[in-house]
Amino acid sequence: MCGIIGAITSKSVQADLLQGLKNMEYRGYDSAGICTIDGMQLAVSKAAGKLVNLAGDLEKKEHTGVIGIGHTRWATHGEPTVENAHPHCSGNIAVVHNGIIENHIGLRRKLETHGMRFVSDTDTEVIPALLSKLLKQEPDMEHVMPVLLSQLEGAYALGILNVETSDVLWFARKGSPLLLARGSRGYYIASDGLAVAGVATEMLYLNEGEWGCISQHGVRVFNQEGCEMSDHTWQRMPQLSASTDKCGYEHFMLKEIHEQPSIMTDIMTTYASKRGVQFPNVAWLNDAVLPERIVMVACGTSYHAALTARYWLERYLQVPVEVDVASEYRYRNPIIGSNTWLITLSQSGETADTLEALRLFKRRTPDNRTLAICNVASSSLVRESDGFIALKAGVEIGVASTKAYTAQLAVLALLAMKLAVRSGSMSEQVWQEHYQSMCHLEVDMNETLKCVPDIQSLTPLFANIHGVLFLGRGPSFPLALEGALKLKEISYLHAEGYAAGEMKHGPIALIDAQLPVVIIAPKQYHLDKVISSLHEVKARGAKVILLTDVSMDDYSDEVEKIIPLPTGDYFTAPLLASIPLQLLAYEVAKFKGTDIDQPRNLAKSVTVE
Ligand code: AGP
Repeated sequence: MCGIIGAITSKSVQADLLQGLKNMEYRGYDSAGICTIDGMQLAVSKAAGKLVNLAGDLEKKEHTGVIGIGHTRWATHGEPTVENAHPHCSGNIAVVHNGIIENHIGLRRKLETHGMRFVSDTDTEVIPALLSKLLKQEPDMEHVMPVLLSQLEGAYALGILNVETSDVLWFARKGSPLLLARGSRGYYIASDGLAVAGVATEMLYLNEGEWGCISQHGVRVFNQEGCEMSDHTWQRMPQLSASTDKCGYEHFMLKEIHEQPSIMTDIMTTYASKRGVQFPNVAWLNDAVLPERIVMVACGTSYHAALTARYWLERYLQVPVEVDVASEYRYRNPIIGSNTWLITLSQSGETADTLEALRLFKRRTPDNRTLAICNVASSSLVRESDGFIALKAGVEIGVASTKAYTAQLAVLALLAMKLAVRSGSMSEQVWQEHYQSMCHLEVDMNETLKCVPDIQSLTPLFANIHGVLFLGRGPSFPLALEGALKLKEISYLHAEGYAAGEMKHGPIALIDAQLPVVIIAPKQYHLDKVISSLHEVKARGAKVILLTDVSMDDYSDEVEKIIPLPTGDYFTAPLLASIPLQLLAYEVAKFKGTDIDQPRNLAKSVTVE
């Protein structure tokens, strides 16, 4: 959700800024801009739309400065126009910002009474305006930075240039991610390690409330109380750049769908063997007293993975499992007992609501354990949790999550199996059967990928419709939610996921020939009852797409298409059915000609509330 980068190096920073923005375009892509200090003046270039527009402008007008900041935007306040694009300037100050300044209206009014004029609709513009004003009274940036930050309410990661201190780049972080990095050419700030992959060799994560500056010679970091920190723990940059290649696929999403079979094997070889499941970063899972209750909190697709895991955990571990969307959990009054574990799920590990839900849980019950299941080892969620299970999915670039979702399901299945064995509720024989079936996922998923031609033949069905309904029962119900979300996200068609048994209680009113119905019917989850739903929708003229792992030739005349699935067990069935649902969303979006990897209005990492 907006990406910021800053650099101070031994040569012109334009190329590093542009490449950094390109690597972070998944965070927001409705406008972009850079500002450098060229000849003791701020030089600003901004463009609405994709980054390619800014890159085109920069070919005509090159920036020469060795210090600069850049921003790729996901609009929160104000439309995606050039005026609203970052950096925002006031006098000698330029600012890039990720986050939301909640008191911006009050600040703007106050500053207007002091004669300051604003040109954008953004919350961010108050920051350079306020800083310019403060610097008139006290020109020392080091003294003014804490005063500025004390007046900003909300969340921010900031990169700031001041022409008067042209050899340093200022930064601050509260509620939005920011890291420092260094390489042979100089120092950087960035929202994400990916932004500086290729130019930096080491990075340093900033903690909440930290601020400071970078120069050609090093970094200075101050904590929230204004004390300068003397020790910095620099970490080696992980290898991130290679994964940003589409490897011949038309879209990142398609590449990521096809990566899923081998990710399953990676997960199995990393965490499981015939002897059982081990999660190396969470030793306490081996011996901590088993929980009396589990709470799972996440957003979007990650929430859907948690919903499926609830069926597994309740069935096999036999403890109550509460699942909530993080934005609700953090504002209700959750009753958290003792010996309750919190499991957070997140691809990015920077989702603002999930992070705040974790912090609420820790504040209320500091003695309870927290476990993050996450794709980004260096993320805030991981750093703030007591334990961490890596998803092993590799960098996910497509905004619509695919491989991180199935990786979450696979890890959750292993977790449920591990805890069930520990509790004695899963026998050795049952464990071995499920283990074998999980080991077979790579082969079975590759088999599932063969449904592409069948899915492609269905796309005309999605023209001139008024919506799509996805139905499932048991662990397939959350899959119906996920199938609908995927389709909505990238094809912009209205779609709803429903528990098949709930259909009669309302959504059945929608059914006609212009509402395709996708029914997920693995034999594991109440097949007969799901088939009754098939008859009910069919009787009302719906066109049905049936996903099943049983032979249903008798139904071939009744449905538009049967998508055959390899036989799955209680854990693997939803993993196998995920792939046709992802491919359906992908092919329908392609048929409609939408922007699949960067769908409108979305951003990969939702770091604001
Ligand atoms: C997935 O396709 C979505 N783009 C979105 O729902 C996402 O899953 C959600 O924002 C949560 O993100 P996280 O997993 O990074 O926390």
